[in-house]
Amino acid sequence: MAQNIYDIIAGRRSQRRYTKDVPPKALVKRIIDGARWAPSAGNRQNWHWWVASGEKRDELVSIIAKVSDMAGELFAEYDEKVQRFLTLYLRTVGGAPIIITLTYEKKPPAKREAPFDWDLWDYASACAAMQNLLLLAHAEGLATCWMTAPVLVHKEIRQCLGIPDSNEVVAVTPLGYSPHVIPPIPRVDPDLKKSVKWFGM
Ligand SMILES: Cc1cc2nc3c(=O)[nH]c(=O)nc-3n(C[C@H](O)[C@H](O)[C@H](O)COP(=O)(O)O)c2cc1C
Repeated sequence: MAQNIYDIIAGRRSQRRYTKDVPPKALVKRIIDGARWAPSAGNRQNWHWWVASGEKRDELVSIIAKVSDMAGELFAEYDEKVQRFLTLYLRTVGGAPIIITLTYEKKPPAKREAPFDWDLWDYASACAAMQNLLLLAHAEGLATCWMTAPVLVHKEIRQCLGIPDSNEVVAVTPLGYSPHVIPPIPRVDPDLKKSVKWFGM
C-alpha cells in the first residue's frame, strides 16, 4: 500500500478496464468505513452506498450500457478513438466485478430551519465521501472510476437496487483490480499561476 498521502492522491486514476477478480467483502467494507470519515455539511453524514456484485452487478451493467446510446452527445468533444473507448466502457463498465452506487437522501434538516440549499450541501458532502472512497480504494490496490453518466438512467438504477425515490443518485463507481497501471493525466496550471490567487504570502 502506498503510504504517502500525496502519492496516493496523485497515483489514483480513473480505471476503465478491470480483471474479473472480486475484492473480498471485508476489504470493501473497510474502504467504505474509511470513506464515511469525510466532512459533511451539518455533520449530517447523509449518504448511502449500494454495493452490487454477481447478478445485481450484471443487471446494473445492462442498465448503464443504455447510456452509451447517448454517447454521441456525451463525448462530442473527444476524438473518435477516445469516443469509441468511452462508449465501450459504458457498455461494459470495464468488466468490473463490483459496482458501487452512492446516493443521498433528500430531506430537510431535523431540528432547525436554515436558509441553505441542503440538497446541494448534502450532494457536496456525498462527493467528499466519494473522493475518500476512491483514494482509499487506490491505497488498498483497488481501481475505481467516478462516473456521473449513469445518473442519466437513475430511475432504472433505483428500481434495480430498490433505492427509495427520496434518494438522489450522486455517482457510480466500478470497483475491482486493474490489469495495468495508467500513467497520470497531466494537471492544468502546474505552477499554480492561474488557479491560485495569493494574499499576504
Ligand atoms: C464528477 C465526475 C464525473 C465523472 N463522470 C465520468 C463518467 O461518467 N465516465 C467516465 O468514464 N469518467 C468519468 N469521470 C472521470 C473523469 O473523466 C476523470 O477523473 C478525468 O478524466 C481525470 O482522470 P483521472 O481521474 O484518471 O485523473 C468523472 C469524474 C468526476 C469527478
